[in-house]
Amino acid sequence: MINAKLNSAIILVRLVSGLIIMVYCFGHMINHSLGIISVESMDKFLEYFAIFWRAPGIYYLMPLSILLHALAALFTFLHRRSMRGLTKAEIIQFVLGLLLPLLLFMHISYGRVTYDMTGRLGYYSYFFDTIEKDNQFTFFFIFYSIMLAMVWVHGCLGLHRWLSLKPWYNRLWLFFYTLAIMPYITSMIGVAVGYREVVLRKFDSSWSNTIIEKTPWLDTAGLPMSSEQLKKISDDFVMPVAGRFILAFFLSVIIGVILRFIWLQIEKRRSNIEVSFSGGEKVNVSPGSTILEASRLAGISHAAICGGNGRCSTCRTRILTDPESLRPPASEESKVLHRISAAPNIRLACQVKLHQNIQVHPLLKQASPSDGHQRPTYADGEEVDVTLLFADLRGFTQMSNQRLPFDVVFILNQYFELMGEAIETSGGYLDKFIGDGIMAIFGMHSGSEIGAKQAIGAAIKMGQQLEVLNSRLEDELDRPLEIGIGLHRGNAIVGNMGYGDAMAVTAIGDTVNVASRLEGACKTLGVQLVVSEEVLQAASVEFPDVIQKDVEVRGSAKPISVFPVDNASTLKPVVVGV
Ligand code: FES
Repeated sequence: MINAKLNSAIILVRLVSGLIIMVYCFGHMINHSLGIISVESMDKFLEYFAIFWRAPGIYYLMPLSILLHALAALFTFLHRRSMRGLTKAEIIQFVLGLLLPLLLFMHISYGRVTYDMTGRLGYYSYFFDTIEKDNQFTFFFIFYSIMLAMVWVHGCLGLHRWLSLKPWYNRLWLFFYTLAIMPYITSMIGVAVGYREVVLRKFDSSWSNTIIEKTPWLDTAGLPMSSEQLKKISDDFVMPVAGRFILAFFLSVIIGVILRFIWLQIEKRRSNIEVSFSGGEKVNVSPGSTILEASRLAGISHAAICGGNGRCSTCRTRILTDPESLRPPASEESKVLHRISAAPNIRLACQVKLHQNIQVHPLLKQASPSDGHQRPTYADGEEVDVTLLFADLRGFTQMSNQRLPFDVVFILNQYFELMGEAIETSGGYLDKFIGDGIMAIFGMHSGSEIGAKQAIGAAIKMGQQLEVLNSRLEDELDRPLEIGIGLHRGNAIVGNMGYGDAMAVTAIGDTVNVASRLEGACKTLGVQLVVSEEVLQAASVEFPDVIQKDVEVRGSAKPISVFPVDNASTLKPVVVGV
């Protein structure tokens, strides 16, 4: 428990310190971008920037954030039992993260040393003038571009991993991509344009006076120091500090690697718990390891989009031995399991600590963070036990013939938005919109029981959303909108199908055809929802007061047993045997 709390605290420290560093970098990039306007505006902004970051209480915030961020990253590195299972983005972020403290301290120390020793800012005009005289612009420009790119890419990857779990993130991707790329590009342009301005104005006498006014390093006579004097200050003060810091940095990295090696050896000796996977793989782990760590050690592809922090639910795993033998889920895990309506034998692999042998079946394979929202891969196709939902607006074609195209699109978009929301919040995958029809798949990853429950839940929500839509459009419609929904469960081929940009995950097979025909049967039966018996069986629920019927379905050798429901919004399923 203490471990879990410590882990959450470390994650929070990493997040907050990372955000502070990103805010600092963002301000820095805005400052550099102002070079596109003029070097004076760069200097002016720097004054405001310095007022904020050098205010009492904030002065040490940035160095402290870098230190805490590095320590939190070091803790995560030492704490992780296996480096297997890291995605490419995580590896890039990790390597960049290792170099960042070094680069950031070196860069920040220039401004801080100047300010602490002279009480004056290192203005851009002065800095550009100095590197122009020393002919060092190319070196600084390349160094600065690489350093900023490393810091910014590291931060953006971290933010992306954090935000990709937010439901609204995918909708705002264009905004976030622009925010990630544009400041970097404009800051590079700003530095180049600002430098060029200083070069062009160097023969202007009034400009030379400005440079003298802005020079932080003055000699005893109050004149700008010569290159030799500056070099002496650098040799006497800056370089020894920088040298000690670089040494301390590399020593910390070496000590970290040695500590990790020793810890791994101790862990290996203590590994007396056997974890068996449904595919036949076996691995031994030490007591207290999680199932996710065991998967990584065994080299099993196991999804963990939130990085093992108990937030995303993608590491969900079926426990094949007695689930009662495990410690019950803590409150955070319980909340996530409840959210996905997990069966009692489903647990979050990142949260279950092992103390005895166990057999498990990870439910989701590893995917990139952006695949977190209902975007499964199934590149090669798989036969999966799923529940299919088909829905259609009744009489809408006729209604649309009497309306302006704008009206039709307006009503349809509202309908799709509400129905799509009902399906996605219930855990379904929105396969496609066909005209005014909808096809959705449930249980691709969560299994047939959860999928069937989610599909029934989605149908109820769709009925409720339709009532919301009808009251919203009361003044616009001659009569309320009506829908028909069909649900059927069984094996279907699920795969990534299509061509070029039109590739998408979809399902084909008899189950799909029957579900579609049950939606059509709503019309003949005069009801809003038709659910096949297979769905109820898988979900282990029954519909009291709903009379079972057999319906003939084209293409099916025998009649299908179904439950026709007049109004989905008022349906109250009851768990069998309760
Ligand atoms: S990895 Fe996200 S909940 Fe376990």
